[in-house]
Amino acid sequence: MINIIDDILLKDNFTHEELMILLASDVEGRNKIFKKAAQIKEDYVGNIVYFRGLIEYSNSCVKNCYYCGIRAGNKFSTRYNLTDEEVFDAVRYAYENNFASIVIQSGERVNVGFTEKISALLKEIKQISKGTMGVTLSLGEQDLETYQKWFKAGAHRYLLRIETSNRELYKKIHPDDAMHDYNVRLEALKNLKKAGFQVGTGVMVGLPFQTISDLADDLIFFKELDIDMAGLGPYIEHHQTPLYIEKDRLISKTERFNLSLKMIALLRIMMKDINIAATTAMQAIDPMGREKAIKVGANVIMPNLTPIKYRENYQLYEDKPCMDEEADECKNCLEARIKIAGHTIGYGEWGDSLHFKKRKGLI
Ligand code: 5AD
Ligand code: SF4
Ligand code: FES
Repeated sequence: MINIIDDILLKDNFTHEELMILLASDVEGRNKIFKKAAQIKEDYVGNIVYFRGLIEYSNSCVKNCYYCGIRAGNKFSTRYNLTDEEVFDAVRYAYENNFASIVIQSGERVNVGFTEKISALLKEIKQISKGTMGVTLSLGEQDLETYQKWFKAGAHRYLLRIETSNRELYKKIHPDDAMHDYNVRLEALKNLKKAGFQVGTGVMVGLPFQTISDLADDLIFFKELDIDMAGLGPYIEHHQTPLYIEKDRLISKTERFNLSLKMIALLRIMMKDINIAATTAMQAIDPMGREKAIKVGANVIMPNLTPIKYRENYQLYEDKPCMDEEADECKNCLEARIKIAGHTIGYGEWGDSLHFKKRKGLI
């Protein structure tokens, strides 16, 4: 008799019910999912991992997401902004080390001064790198015009997580006001596409009140939105946030980690040619978290280039790794980890989403 998991895995697009079975599978089932995902990864995007040097530009944020350590309401958070020179030093490091791409991430800020500051930085980043540096932005919800300005200034990928595709759950983990509106988030994702970006989104796995059915819906949401990139990882409680009071409801960290791995593998099977990040949050739970993510489908990693003196202030969640490691240490460490996972690093290559290129008729 054919095992039900084998049967489902003969296909590569799944119904909601099938996804629930796969997400709930035991270790034996899980290993079958991982094996298929690894094969698909090798066949479609190759066993190459692309570096994106991560610059955590500022931890100032106007929002109050209940789960996040740098939310505006966290009075214990010391706010910082990198100076232009600090940004350029990080860019020079990335350039000299052949990273080919950087990510600029920060808390959300919506004002003309911020928009223009980012545009000016983008132009200078292109100058410093002789036009070669690929730039991903992760600066939250903005209007279409702002996205268009940043695209024109040289950014070409954008990450904006939906956090959860369940509107009710979204309401539970955010203040119920106009600044934290699911529809606005969705609209922003559509505007990013309109502006020409390669668009990445993602969710947190193991949120309080989240079910396996929600996670199955998340995967279907990614497929329907036809995303180019994904970044997902476990929810990790932060004691200075309102959601911390729900900590007794959480599944264990190991379960959140294992479910995140399964989500990555299933997404690789469902969306074969997208880019998937091995997120830092994976490594906050399991010391080998990022290697494991790479083995089951992830193909992007973000070595941290933020100056060390600021790192402790960019703690969206607790136990974040690489708090005291210089850029060089993280680079060497990740190089070794990627090698152990049997992959090579795509130095000097943008490693753009093949899915995006196909979507645009470029390949
Ligand atoms: N645990 C895990 N991920 C978190 N993020 C924010 N807070 C947490 C947390 N406590 C993630 C969100 C956000 C991204 C920048 O960081 O998904 O989109
Ligand atoms: Fe701000 Fe992002 Fe944290 Fe929400 S998750 S509070 S938008 S930094
Ligand atoms: Fe930063 Fe290993 S990745 S020290």
